[in-house]
Amino acid sequence: MLVAIPEVLSPQAAAELREQIAAEDWIDGNATSGAGAASVKRNRQLAENAQATHRAQAQVSAALMDNSVFLSAALPHSVFPPLFNRYGPGDGFGLHVDNAIRFHAETGARIRTDLSCTLFLTDPAEYEGGELEIEGQFGMARYKLPAGHALLYPSTSLHQVTPVTAGTRISCFFWLQSLVADHAAREMLYDLDQTVQTLSAERGKSDAQVLRLTAIYHNLVRRWAQV
Ligand code: NI
Repeated sequence: MLVAIPEVLSPQAAAELREQIAAEDWIDGNATSGAGAASVKRNRQLAENAQATHRAQAQVSAALMDNSVFLSAALPHSVFPPLFNRYGPGDGFGLHVDNAIRFHAETGARIRTDLSCTLFLTDPAEYEGGELEIEGQFGMARYKLPAGHALLYPSTSLHQVTPVTAGTRISCFFWLQSLVADHAAREMLYDLDQTVQTLSAERGKSDAQVLRLTAIYHNLVRRWAQV
């Protein structure tokens, strides 16, 4: 399941964040690559231990934890501290799969990557190319979202960033371990939760059927979550 999440950051907050980090030191993006990805990756990244990275990470993490669509779709257990990348003309990231396990050197945290997420920080009008392409059950899906919008997708998928041919594309990206490892189970929970929210808005939270469906949602989470 691919979920586009609108306005994780407002357009203004996304522009401010991008400006803040644009002037920082950008290192070779292969600093965080697995051996397989390194040969196809060509971009720059903010150093993980820089102060500016920590400030930007805190801002993105707070916005994510405040976003009901993200929480419902991801059911996050542990979120890897967000990273930031920059693609200029000629840069791109060929077809690859993300490493199954990520180790965070600074905190010693280790997570299983269930979901990958890209938070776009540059408006599509400002660069050419740089589409995020993700292979799924029904072929390749291609995304280039407005600044401040995020795309959540299964880390099991092959994906790539097509070469940027003009302008600069700055984005935030991260992985997370979900409370529910199984993609099909997580997808059903997301559908159920969204439906309960809609019904609840129409009928009120104390409506008997809404209560019953809410109980089913929580009981399925109880059955499937690994905490
Ligand atoms: Ni990737």
